[in-house]
Amino acid sequence: MAEKSEYVLGTHGEELARLGLQHSVWRPVVLDCWQKAGITVGKRVLDVGAGPGYAATDLAEIVGPTGEVVALERSQNFIRALEATCRARSLANVKIHELDLMKGDLPRRDYDFAWCRWVVSFVNDQSLLIEKLCGVMPKGSIAIFHEYGHYETWRFFPRLPVHERFREQVIATWRESGGEPDGALQLPGLLGENGFVIRSATPHIFCLRPSDYMWQWPTTFIETYLERLIEMGRIDHQFADQVRTALATAEKNPNARMLTPLVLEIIAEKL
Ligand SMILES: C[S@@+](CC[C@H](N)C(=O)[O-])C[C@H]1O[C@@H](n2cnc3c(N)ncnc32)[C@H](O)[C@@H]1O
Repeated sequence: MAEKSEYVLGTHGEELARLGLQHSVWRPVVLDCWQKAGITVGKRVLDVGAGPGYAATDLAEIVGPTGEVVALERSQNFIRALEATCRARSLANVKIHELDLMKGDLPRRDYDFAWCRWVVSFVNDQSLLIEKLCGVMPKGSIAIFHEYGHYETWRFFPRLPVHERFREQVIATWRESGGEPDGALQLPGLLGENGFVIRSATPHIFCLRPSDYMWQWPTTFIETYLERLIEMGRIDHQFADQVRTALATAEKNPNARMLTPLVLEIIAEKL
């Protein structure tokens, strides 16, 4: 059954699977980031906008039974998926809160870390989110973000003009839903205003060839979001097929490359 949601990407089964693939592709980068930030056995981690919990369950395995992961998510479909994964992996250290980050109070705990990935871009008041987050993070705790910093870096070589038109539709629909694709841009200012000091800021951008595993991440997004744009009445089937044909041409060209949307990793400490 369709879920009432203002969330622009949707929470349907294909999106759930896409988020799983996205997490698998990014997993090496994420594990390295968590290790660098100091996440280990016994730590308490707040996962802000956890989705179906692909990161939350990895975090739960890292922090172990003496640690805890508190996952915040609005979508019931995603929460049900996370609950099922916790049962299947016998994870008793994940506490799930169904919560709209823009409306509810964030649960207070003695968190060591907060993890927030691809959420800042989708809330309609970034400063409220950071204010709420800072309100529950104790002194000395660490907040980690992976958010888009410059979405328009996403392009193909040789250029695919039809993909660039698709990318513009993505940007426009996220903005129209109240989000901001380049969500990371405001983070340094907002974190500073709320008592955090940035310990590191690292860009993650990749130049991919069709045979790279990571190629699957943006291309799966294209397929899922073409359908979403059709549902929204933003594009027609003919345009969607033009994008698919252009992508198929790139995939047959051994010299084709894709530059990914820039993700900024920010690690900040609460003073
Ligand atoms: C692109 S997904 C990322 C999910 C997860 N952080 C990950 O990295 O796989 C964005 C998530 O933010 C959630 N979200 C967006 N706006 C929200 C809000 N106002 N309150 C709670 N969750 C929200 C969506 O439901 C979705 O699960």
